Amino acid sequence: MIKIDVLTLFPGFFESPLSASILKIAIEKGLLEIRLHDLRTWGVGKRRNVDDRPYGGGPGMLMTPGPIFEAVEAIGGTKDGRLILLTPQGKRLDQELLDELAREQRLVLICGRYEGIDERVRIGLSPEEISIGDYVLSGGEIPSLVLIEGLARQIPGVLGDASSADAESFKGGVLDFPQYTRPPEFRGMRVPEVLLGGDHKKIDEWRRQEGLRRTLAVRPDLRSGGTDGYR
Ligand SMILES: C[S@@+](CC[C@H](N)C(=O)[O-])C[C@H]1O[C@@H](n2cnc3c(N)ncnc32)[C@H](O)[C@@H]1O
Repeated sequence: MIKIDVLTLFPGFFESPLSASILKIAIEKGLLEIRLHDLRTWGVGKRRNVDDRPYGGGPGMLMTPGPIFEAVEAIGGTKDGRLILLTPQGKRLDQELLDELAREQRLVLICGRYEGIDERVRIGLSPEEISIGDYVLSGGEIPSLVLIEGLARQIPGVLGDASSADAESFKGGVLDFPQYTRPPEFRGMRVPEVLLGGDHKKIDEWRRQEGLRRTLAVRPDLRSGGTDGYR
């Protein structure tokens, strides 16, 4: 069971993704608990302000540090878990990091908005910084959902077939092999004979070769650090 506290200005953003498919199942099975915290609860004044103009000028607004510090304190701190700030400046999220996060008992995710957050959140709370890729989105909510969905698949018991998550791209430094389902022929394209034959040794070898071929064609970088321990 992993408990994830999400600090966000837009808790509503999470409603639909958390109530469908794998995430819904993970929550219903009690393997994942998501607690959404509206940062505006700790906003300042009647209008519950959470942002202000940057010192030194420049476009847009920044999230002020107060609501974020108070939210972290109100949820009991992060001693029993990992505090994560979603930011394009962070360490790039990959399968290895997701596997590692899936072994934690508690995560606290901070979602930025506007032009970002006051630097004192980094200085004072020392969050781990994680990015979902080298591009800039408007907020940390979608990056948080990417992280949550990615790690939920790794929690034992979440996927119907326990081996599903092990047999996917990036495990062992290779991409997934080509997959086919019915019909055996579709618009002139036939399923490779080996898959129809039922010889599992041959099927495993074909899959291994095809996964490797595809990886070398489109992501040779995965092989430079990968292992050959593929299935
Ligand atoms: C418009 S962005 C701010 C970008 C910031 N000014 C910069 O250039 O680094 C607003 C928020 O979206 C989130 N965000 C945007 N792109 C992201 C990415 N690639 N990975 C993780 N979080 C991202 C972060 O929480 C960020 O604080």
